[in-house]
Amino acid sequence: MTFSQPRSNPSSSEVTSDTSTAWWRDAVIYQIYPRSFADANGDGVGDLAGISSKLDYLLDLGVDALWLSPIFPSPMADFGYDVADYCDIEPLFGSLADVDALLEGLHRRGMRLLLDWVPNHTSNEHPWFVEAAQGPTSPKRDWYVWRDPAPDGGPPNNWRAAFSDTPAWTLDPVSGQYYLHLFLAEQPDLNWANPDVEAAMHDTLRFWLDRGVDGFRADVVHLIGKGQDVPDLPDQMAGAPVRWIDHPDAHDYLRRIRLLLDSYPQEPMMVGEVYLLEPGQAASYLGTPEDGELHLTFDFRPLHTKWDSDALTKAIARAQGEFSDPLWPTWVLSNHDRPRHRTRYGSDQRARAAAVLSLTMRGTPFLYAGEELGLSDGVVPPERVVDPGGRDGCRAPIPWTSEPDGGWTNPWLPLPENAETNNAQQQVGEDDSMHALYKRLLRLRKELPVLRQGSMNLLDVPPGVLAYERTLDGQRVVVALNLTDKPVDCTALAGAELLLASDPARLDLAQPLGPDEAVVARSNP
Ligand code: NOJ
Repeated sequence: MTFSQPRSNPSSSEVTSDTSTAWWRDAVIYQIYPRSFADANGDGVGDLAGISSKLDYLLDLGVDALWLSPIFPSPMADFGYDVADYCDIEPLFGSLADVDALLEGLHRRGMRLLLDWVPNHTSNEHPWFVEAAQGPTSPKRDWYVWRDPAPDGGPPNNWRAAFSDTPAWTLDPVSGQYYLHLFLAEQPDLNWANPDVEAAMHDTLRFWLDRGVDGFRADVVHLIGKGQDVPDLPDQMAGAPVRWIDHPDAHDYLRRIRLLLDSYPQEPMMVGEVYLLEPGQAASYLGTPEDGELHLTFDFRPLHTKWDSDALTKAIARAQGEFSDPLWPTWVLSNHDRPRHRTRYGSDQRARAAAVLSLTMRGTPFLYAGEELGLSDGVVPPERVVDPGGRDGCRAPIPWTSEPDGGWTNPWLPLPENAETNNAQQQVGEDDSMHALYKRLLRLRKELPVLRQGSMNLLDVPPGVLAYERTLDGQRVVVALNLTDKPVDCTALAGAELLLASDPARLDLAQPLGPDEAVVARSNP
């Protein structure tokens, strides 16, 4: 099947494909889960005015851009990932005027804003779906994926939905047809094979780009290409189609999205959530220099890797290999879908060493709000569980003060387990705190081009150690992490000058690397 070019897109000759000096290569991006960041109106749910009130905190920390999880009107079946209107703001979070104010506040401080665009599915309350559900003759019927039942009257194929052990299809009893939802039944999948859907979704991007936003995080964007056949998956894959759908159509859609983005003067960036973990899969969604697709894509393999030097070294080597020049990797250790890395790794020392890792590798780091405070997950008792995917713990509200509710009034979820010690009031300005470590790392990254642009090579080191060098224009920086519980000598650091250590007590490199310690050192090539 071929599609016509959506209206008013530029042609590839009008846009530049060289991204070697793009802003997002140098940037550190900070993810905010708006419900949990800062609450200006005291209703227990974070909002846009709350985010605006923390811009000086973020500027002082040293991040370059914010990515906000969805802020659009939503019935909140999946806390905003079920969008009912792509071109407005959920009243819980504020108004269009609030997002304009946030954008202005960010741009005045030299920071940028990315929104979370959810292209694979809408809410079942989106007017498009309401119209489509009116019946097979509805003009919008084909905007979603409807199929007749299988011969036995059951769902059209064996795909299962994420979060619930149910089919990825829900029967509409009136028409007798099923609609597809790879996530909740309240999140029907859009049919991108219909050019009107593609054009309408392009319009939603234009709406925000015209307002001045600097780019998007694109939710499960690999799923937008499904083809028309929706065949059965082999049994062992049927439980998680989200991880297996890797259809060529998605690349066509992404190439056209890229042309649209690159035609805007603010150099918008799109980072894709491509939840595909096999070698080379995620990188393939960046396209080629001639035919660009996403600017960046997440690589979730390190986030699924335990605190083990061999496993982490392997994950890093794979990523560096697959995202070699002119491609560019990203690093993410925590987000709103997985337990925080402070919880996964189990100690402050490890979280400190992990901060050094994620902020000194070649690639664009994505920080998850609160990791700079070393936050652990919240412990959510059964009566307070709200997320159908069991992810409430990592979405615990950010504690701004040392008070029991961290400065919140009736927060919508319990606070992180370690909020009493790990809150902004106690940590900001405190020399040995996690916050001070992140600030130092972010400053070092800004001061040393070699940490942002230098090439990266993993080094041969003793077992239990992970080390690499960054080199650029005669500058060489070595980063070494000891992932064991014993001190380790590391010859890679011989003769080097200490720039930063995860252990605040370290003054030089005379002593071996301590358990779960990381250092950054300058060393002449
Ligand atoms: C990935 C998002 O990160 C997750 O939070 C959401 O539930 C699914 N996509 C569905 O939109």
